[in-house]
Amino acid sequence: MNRKQFISTLGVGAAGLMTFGCKNSIATTKALPVFSMENPDAFWAAVRDEFPLTRERTYMNNGGLGPASSRVLNAVQAKMKELQETSESGHDEIMDETRAVAADFLGADTDEICFTRNSTEANSIIAAGLKLKEGDEVIFESHAHPGGGIAWMNRQKRHGVKVKIFDPDPDSIEGNLNRIEALITPKTRVIQLSHVTAPTGILFDVKAVAQMARERDIWFHIDGAQSAGMFPFNLHEIGCHSYGTSGHKWMGGPRGTGILYIAKDHMDEVEASHAGAYSGPYEFPDTFTYVPRAQRHEYGTRNTEIIAGLAVAMQFQNSIGMDRIAAYGQGLATYLQKGLREIDSVEVLTPEDLRMYRSMTTFKCAKVDFHNLYESLSHDYHFRCRIVEERGLNAVRISTHLYNSKADCDRVMESVQDILRKA
Ligand SMILES: Cc1ncc(COP(=O)(O)O)c(C=O)c1O
Repeated sequence: MNRKQFISTLGVGAAGLMTFGCKNSIATTKALPVFSMENPDAFWAAVRDEFPLTRERTYMNNGGLGPASSRVLNAVQAKMKELQETSESGHDEIMDETRAVAADFLGADTDEICFTRNSTEANSIIAAGLKLKEGDEVIFESHAHPGGGIAWMNRQKRHGVKVKIFDPDPDSIEGNLNRIEALITPKTRVIQLSHVTAPTGILFDVKAVAQMARERDIWFHIDGAQSAGMFPFNLHEIGCHSYGTSGHKWMGGPRGTGILYIAKDHMDEVEASHAGAYSGPYEFPDTFTYVPRAQRHEYGTRNTEIIAGLAVAMQFQNSIGMDRIAAYGQGLATYLQKGLREIDSVEVLTPEDLRMYRSMTTFKCAKVDFHNLYESLSHDYHFRCRIVEERGLNAVRISTHLYNSKADCDRVMESVQDILRKA
């Protein structure tokens, strides 16, 4: 089966109709209309219709968890049914076909892609696997998500590696490079950055950091939980050593999917802290070699139907166009940020520089406690956004992805004004 045929079995084709007697919760899907500059709203409304997200509230927390589209859910359901009917083990073909789609999606080679359950697992494989000794130093930003930072704290606790953090500069690309550089010493072995920070949505210049790290022989890992599926990029062009992401955020993949990329020339620098079938050929008791691919970190039986669903999610985004998705999400964020900045007592914590943010906006109001702001937006105005308590930022985060609209952003702004009037 070639890749095209494989994808067509997953329901990504023009019609993509699969119902399996399910109720409205997983609706049927139909082809998207052709995008037209005259009427982009009609296109995005059709995209919204692809998501069985309840309309009883407005979902603006894609940075926390991304909903999957009906075609992804249908594909997983169909694949699960098909695989259960034969109950065969293996499924290398599904894994490898999706690996090829993921490699295209991220700008990598197929052999550099490993499937994980989430970003945390991808980040942890790197943190646990690099050969570090007591006193070796690791740098990451103080806004790192626990799923990005705790694996290093664990390494610090277990092996005496030293964690050093810097506060990200929301105003300057150079500022961030300087803050990282200021922490580098001869003992620095690793720099890790969130591609986009979870609390306030700061986009780092990861290409410049990769260059800085490579010049000094320092490993550079990107926690990409907030980037894959939000905007396009090419890992080979960035030049990082490794990158981890979740399928169940901006990519719109099934829950429990993640991807780890390890640059092929550096593959052997990451030891497999967990290994088993799929890690490589062996002969008990002495012979075991790793397969020459990142797949060596996939061990034991996997849920292949969700990996098949992840391929559908990527194909769906490709069919819309990653540039278009990125421009739309950032356009909504820009619109929202501009409007929020005009509201008295509102402070937007996300950078104003277009080069330093994408599709998330974090803000607070001097006149309303952030808990009350969050609670009121959630309960009185029916938004699902995210409270930001990290590092005392005390704010609220709004994600704007492909199923959101300008009208959603207008309602956020009107609601904030309403809350302020009543305060
Ligand atoms: C930057 C970052 N890293 C890691 C994670 C953890 O993601 P997961 O729970 O999918 O592993 C998140 C979740 O929001 C995140 O924003």
